[in-house]
Amino acid sequence: MSADRSVTTYPGSGGIIVTGGASGIGAAVCRLLSADGIRVGVLDRNADGAGEVAAEVGGVALVANVADSEAFDAEIRRGAEQLGGLRGLVNNAGIGNLKAFESYTDREIDLIFKVNVSSTYYGIRSAAPLLRESGGGAIVNVASVSGVRPTRGEAPYSAAKAAVIALSAGAALELAPAIRVNCVSPGFMHTPLNDVLASDPAARASIEAGTPMERVGTADETAELIAFLLSNRSGYLTGQNLVLDGGSLLNSRQMDDVLTPMMGMFGQ
Ligand code: NAI
Repeated sequence: MSADRSVTTYPGSGGIIVTGGASGIGAAVCRLLSADGIRVGVLDRNADGAGEVAAEVGGVALVANVADSEAFDAEIRRGAEQLGGLRGLVNNAGIGNLKAFESYTDREIDLIFKVNVSSTYYGIRSAAPLLRESGGGAIVNVASVSGVRPTRGEAPYSAAKAAVIALSAGAALELAPAIRVNCVSPGFMHTPLNDVLASDPAARASIEAGTPMERVGTADETAELIAFLLSNRSGYLTGQNLVLDGGSLLNSRQMDDVLTPMMGMFGQ
């Protein structure tokens, strides 16, 4: 731990690879790590987007579909080589869909599991030996509040994100003490993924009304938590899933509307 509280240190040596780094939460993580003096590997299937973020943060652009284990592995190795080793990995790339339970096709279900769950496994498996080589490291996987409390229309996504939470704990158990593995489950964060909803006044008002913090979250706020979990500030924290949702999971729609008007009625 650094004696200087203004400096955040990270385990091992070399850089950190962020999947889905071309947009939203991933891009915010790349910017924050770079501000902390870390060189970043911006990995995305969107080559132009990865190139733009990499140029902005002075990092390395890596291009792969994370669901393709061979291509993903090759880019992680290439990234580690170019970054002078690997001290961290953020498995952030993910996709979802919104459909009635019975209308999901086999292909859609498989794709959601491949991109969210299998890719996270692939990333951890490829990064682990490189992190050990560099003297240790940290991995952060991005799940979702939907993996803790499922949302209507997102059954495969919710199940996949729940699997990411369990996978994080399983990996933490086997990779300690050299490598810490944690998971972040964001609530509604305004990013390009959900801009349609966040920009719609009625939808936004409804989301805010269901959030004790009375606003949607930001990609930068998510990046702060991810950077903390990658850094030595969380050196004893592993295998955990941290929900970052402005308190939205705390709401109980079953009882809140009934009990709130009754407050103070039953005191002695
Ligand atoms: P985004 O859509 O802005 O960014 C996702 C990035 O991942 C894009 O650059 C995309 O090209 C890349 N990507 C997608 N599939 C890929 C693949 N197969 N291979 C390589 N790259 C791929 O999304 P956002 O909002 O930044 O989400 C990031 C993560 O956070 C996702 O895992 C998402 O499920 C999760 N999340 C987001 C929430 C939100 O409110 N924005 C809430 C809960 C979870």
